[in-house]
Amino acid sequence: MLCNIRPAKATGKESGIFMLRGKNVILGVTGGIAAYKAVELLRELVKRQANVQVVMTKNAMEFVTPLTFQSLSANRVVHDLFELEWTNEIGHIALADAADIMVIAPATANIIGKIAHGVADDFLSTLVMALTCPLIFAPSMNTKMWQNPIVQQNLTMLKHHGYTWVEPETGDLACGTTGQGRLAEVCDIVEQMQDLLSAKDLKGCRMLITAGPTVEGVDPVRYITNRSSGKMGYALARMARRRGADVVLVSGPSLLPPPRKDVLFIPVKSATDMRNAVFDHYRDCNVVIMAAAVADFRPKSVFVQKVKKGENDSYLMELEKTPDILEELGRVKENRILVGFAAETENLIENAEKKLRSKKTDLFVANDVSQPGAGFEVDTNIVTILSRRGKRKDLPLMPKDEVANIILNQIAKMMRRRNKRS
Ligand code: PMT
Repeated sequence: MLCNIRPAKATGKESGIFMLRGKNVILGVTGGIAAYKAVELLRELVKRQANVQVVMTKNAMEFVTPLTFQSLSANRVVHDLFELEWTNEIGHIALADAADIMVIAPATANIIGKIAHGVADDFLSTLVMALTCPLIFAPSMNTKMWQNPIVQQNLTMLKHHGYTWVEPETGDLACGTTGQGRLAEVCDIVEQMQDLLSAKDLKGCRMLITAGPTVEGVDPVRYITNRSSGKMGYALARMARRRGADVVLVSGPSLLPPPRKDVLFIPVKSATDMRNAVFDHYRDCNVVIMAAAVADFRPKSVFVQKVKKGENDSYLMELEKTPDILEELGRVKENRILVGFAAETENLIENAEKKLRSKKTDLFVANDVSQPGAGFEVDTNIVTILSRRGKRKDLPLMPKDEVANIILNQIAKMMRRRNKRS
């Protein structure tokens, strides 16, 4: 049998982490030191249940053996254009026809130059010539090679022909120098692949999303905060951008890296910082989602010096309310879509409904944070989405990426309704 690629079983429900499930992915590996990182990329694609066919150039096999890729993909690795066993079908054509997406990682200056100029002299380059699905290059090379005007010109030609690439990172390179040329992070390559496969139903939407906790200072070494990790808000930002929205993410302190390079990322600390950042940007946005866990109270006065324990057995601290950002947004809402989140430990629906009305929002996402797998820190959530029109959608335990997509589906629907009316 020629190829292991099976037809993709598209259910129409793939999104978020399941976006690549059942997709036929070709991973082209060319001869650079970063070839070992293609192994990590393969593992990530397999984890996402993609059916990956690895195609290597002769030079790539000098860096990593086909056996490594074969063991991890459970598919035979292809490299020889003239392999006799494959005579029942023309190898590169059959592979190209079945593919949903292809990525070349690492992509050397050589393969970039060859494809830009239509050279097809081995299996990989011949396959590309027969390809009709999206193709992403993930270049990796020495900085001087990357900056070479010929390489840059070739990349421009690739762009002109509809191909895309993931910019190489800047950092320490295998040749001992520092500069741009290091293979992009695996997560960024996978994100770009998912981006290319996503419908852009939020194009034209300008979204402001808040995430994470706020921290309210007590003295130079102490603060009040909460358990929010930022995962829910970052998932919303990543998914919204993937679906074509322009996204501003205002985030309280989080250990997570910014979700995407093309999301405008504004780090803040306190509720007041968050309020000011939100009000700097909300005018340009037609959707605001407040997923942040904003502190409701802060110390009335912040000590300039560290508070000493002294002889006291107890200590009283006076707290005051922080600005309620969502409530303030509700007052200047105009025709924006406003979405709030409610983290509750009791009377989930009742409390969330109260907030939905009092804060003049269109949707409220209620999560009972006392349930295992829901709320703070975890990668999953269990939520009920309440709408101002009285509708209610109960979602079971699912990854936060999926929750984000379902919330965004509702927003997309509301935008479509509004656009029809206007
Ligand atoms: O970050 P993770 O670890 O992924 O956790 C996700 C989450 C649990 C933080 C998230 O799903 C969530 O529920 N966020 C809202 C938490 C919260 O602050 O709920 P609340 O019921 O206290 O606030 C209601 C709404 O008012 C929220 O949209 C909040 O952003 C907003 N608010 C609250 C207080 C305040 N001073 N200003 C506000 O704008």
